[in-house]
Amino acid sequence: MINVTPSGQGLGARVENIDLSQPLSAENYKTIEGLLGKYGVLCFPKQQLSSQQLKDYSSNFGSLEINVANVYQEPGLPEVMILSNKKVDGKPIGLGDAGQDWHTDMSYSKMIAFTNVLYGIEIPRRNGEPLGSTEFSNMRAAYLALPEDLKTKLDGMTVLHDFNKFWENMRKQPGSTRAPLTEEQRKAKPPVSHPIFLTHPITGEKVLYANPGYSIRINELPEEESDRILAFLFEHQLQPQFRYRHRWTEGDVLMWDNMGTIHNAIADYKPDEPRYIKRCQVMADRYFPQAA
Ligand code: OGA
Ligand code: MN
Repeated sequence: MINVTPSGQGLGARVENIDLSQPLSAENYKTIEGLLGKYGVLCFPKQQLSSQQLKDYSSNFGSLEINVANVYQEPGLPEVMILSNKKVDGKPIGLGDAGQDWHTDMSYSKMIAFTNVLYGIEIPRRNGEPLGSTEFSNMRAAYLALPEDLKTKLDGMTVLHDFNKFWENMRKQPGSTRAPLTEEQRKAKPPVSHPIFLTHPITGEKVLYANPGYSIRINELPEEESDRILAFLFEHQLQPQFRYRHRWTEGDVLMWDNMGTIHNAIADYKPDEPRYIKRCQVMADRYFPQAA
């Protein structure tokens, strides 16, 4: 039987007594889906997965995203992406600055992301403490804690999400090697809108679906008011009581729900402190087939 230990914080749970390298039973699928809805972030410690097994496990939850522009893929398995600061012969072997600001994956896409499945292979440590933690915040709790008049006012409104916002912010970081998006790349990823309060397809509860990384505008409001309310929401949604910080250990599989949480990769390690993680990104096509 699967063994679940809640983190006791704003979200997150540890899930033991399941081997993710083995085919997933229908019963365990249902259990994990329910846990993702309830806890937002799940850590499955002590896993041992080949890239093929990581892909097979992730595929249970929906279609896997293949990032066409991304060269940091497992050879022959484009669904498995490499997140790493490591270099071989002076060349990066992974995306080194993935997720280093608060965001949720693919909110800028018509088909949003359901879950990311990350497999930690090398984790940097200093004085015995893990570096490169991943932080999360609970968007159901953030919704519930909004002032009632704001909930009422924003109900039914939509937010515009733009891939270029995150890209440009990353470019401003010291040492960034990201070039500006070309006109063509921008055209391929035009901003898209989603409800500001999304009804979570697993829990049926409302969540705040806005994030500092990609959200640029509340469509139904004048620009100045939209800017002011977004700034309020970006601060509101990061309160400590909504949060959980995952400190990585090698062998962790970390899986999170992108619809009900936002996350941030902490860039507190240096180029000579290697981090190496493999990742699959699962789209929410199970829940929103009409957006496919
Ligand atoms: C991601 C991401 C966080 C991390 O994979 O979507 O943001 O800690 N990564 O690597
Ligand atoms: Mn991310």
